[in-house]
Amino acid sequence: MRIVAKAIPTGAALGADIVDIDLSDELGADDLEAIKQAWAEHLVLRFRGQHLSDEDLLRFSRHFGPLDKAPINPYGTTWVPDNPEVNVISNILDDTGKRIGGLGDGECVWHADMTYNDDPVHACTLYAKEIPEIGGDTGFANMVAAYEALSDELKVRLTGMECKHDKTRNSTGQLRKGFEESYPDVSHVPGAVHPMVRRDPETGRCALYPGRRHNAYVLGLSVDESEALLDEIWAHVSKPEFAWTQHWQVDDLVMWDNRYCLHRRDAFSPDARRHMRRTQIGGDRPVAA
Ligand code: SIN
Repeated sequence: MRIVAKAIPTGAALGADIVDIDLSDELGADDLEAIKQAWAEHLVLRFRGQHLSDEDLLRFSRHFGPLDKAPINPYGTTWVPDNPEVNVISNILDDTGKRIGGLGDGECVWHADMTYNDDPVHACTLYAKEIPEIGGDTGFANMVAAYEALSDELKVRLTGMECKHDKTRNSTGQLRKGFEESYPDVSHVPGAVHPMVRRDPETGRCALYPGRRHNAYVLGLSVDESEALLDEIWAHVSKPEFAWTQHWQVDDLVMWDNRYCLHRRDAFSPDARRHMRRTQIGGDRPVAA
């Protein structure tokens, strides 16, 4: 009898391991259904011990929707020109001294990916090829649980509010190409505007959608009011009770729902090597609660 993939929850606010599956094989319909159900419930899935080529990673990712290309890197191209949907997150330099991927070895603060775009990515996968012995772990936080734990007063206050998500810097704080070092105040920083609370049109569930803290601005408020509200929200969403941390092993594949999760990464030694391959599943415009 064929064994169907099984989910084992982490026991934290989100995350589950999927076992009894080899993602280098074509997925059967029953396995795919089991994965989709577990993903809807746990928001982050981990598959350990996978041996995947870029083509395997792309084939697996496409089961969940059309893929977005990786963002353009500082060399003006994508990291894997033959497979532009593959993104590389790495601190490694090649023999000519060129970076093989982005984000270096620094800490990445809590954020959701590419919310500075009007149609931010729905989900991402991250596959570990090389990892440091210490550091470089990735934390995830459940924004559905964070919304549900808000006071009724704050839920009502945030409904209908919109926030601008900074386009100018990445999650390690580096300035993106073509943007100013500073702006008169946060209300002038370019970025996409999204609801503070987003609703899943299929299930009706609501989630906080804070994007990232740096340079965020709540529309319609003074800068001081916006800063105070965002400080309150970020103190709430970064509580450990909403989080789970992925301690990487080589050959781990993790996928997360970027609509309803935040993630962050610990810094690691510049002398260590970390090499991750990533894909981005395309999304659409967040729907307000
Ligand atoms: C990211 O912020 O997308 C990178 C996460 C990681 O490197 O673990």
